[in-house]
Amino acid sequence: MEALKRQAAARALEQVAGGMRLGLGTGSTARHFVDLLGEKVRAGLKVVGVPTSEATRIQAEQCGVPLTTLDEVDSLDLTVDGADEVDPALDLIKGGGGALLREKIVAAASDRMIVIADETKWVDALGRFPLPVEVVPFGLAATRRAMERAFAAAGVSGRIELRKGGNRHVFVTDGGHWIVDCRLGRIADAPRLASLLNAIPGVVESGLFVGLAGTVILAGTSGIRVVERR
Ligand code: A5P
Repeated sequence: MEALKRQAAARALEQVAGGMRLGLGTGSTARHFVDLLGEKVRAGLKVVGVPTSEATRIQAEQCGVPLTTLDEVDSLDLTVDGADEVDPALDLIKGGGGALLREKIVAAASDRMIVIADETKWVDALGRFPLPVEVVPFGLAATRRAMERAFAAAGVSGRIELRKGGNRHVFVTDGGHWIVDCRLGRIADAPRLASLLNAIPGVVESGLFVGLAGTVILAGTSGIRVVERR
């Protein structure tokens, strides 16, 4: 599986040119991309990156990739990131690694987003993977009730679980928020669910990435498949 993730990352690296401002994703697949990008930078490629998490920031610094922020550049040329699920509309579930908020801010600030993944991430409909939703701790019970109403309006239902870290304490995001994971099953209308969730005051962002990915690079045992947004 790691070899497949690295193949997808290597294919995305072919789209990187000197002078580009890059969004650097988070997760085990994006990690391969940052690693390969670091090799190119050490060989002379000139790029700057905006990391989507503290973990990626630390990795990029160790790899020698120069970093900037969205306060210092107007926009990004390209973001390369992983995903937990990708559907045929190239909508995504992200946030399994807890970085969904910065990932979405960076992807939305980019002219183009390439998703890199192994072929197991491709699904007919989103929702088998529990949907991460970043929430503020204040008023969590009210936020959960509002989320349940949003689920009913979008025709889904399922358990909402507060994410715990490895130490059994509540998982805290880089932005100081919490994450709830929602086991919804098939999400028939991801754009509608995304906008219903975003209208809830206690919801910071959902892990539904709608209309952001332009290209998906899927690595499988029989080769690489590149899917472009139509
Ligand atoms: C991080 O918050 C996530 O959005 C990741 O991009 C996503 O979970 C994919 O991670 P893997 O590449 O580790 O599967």
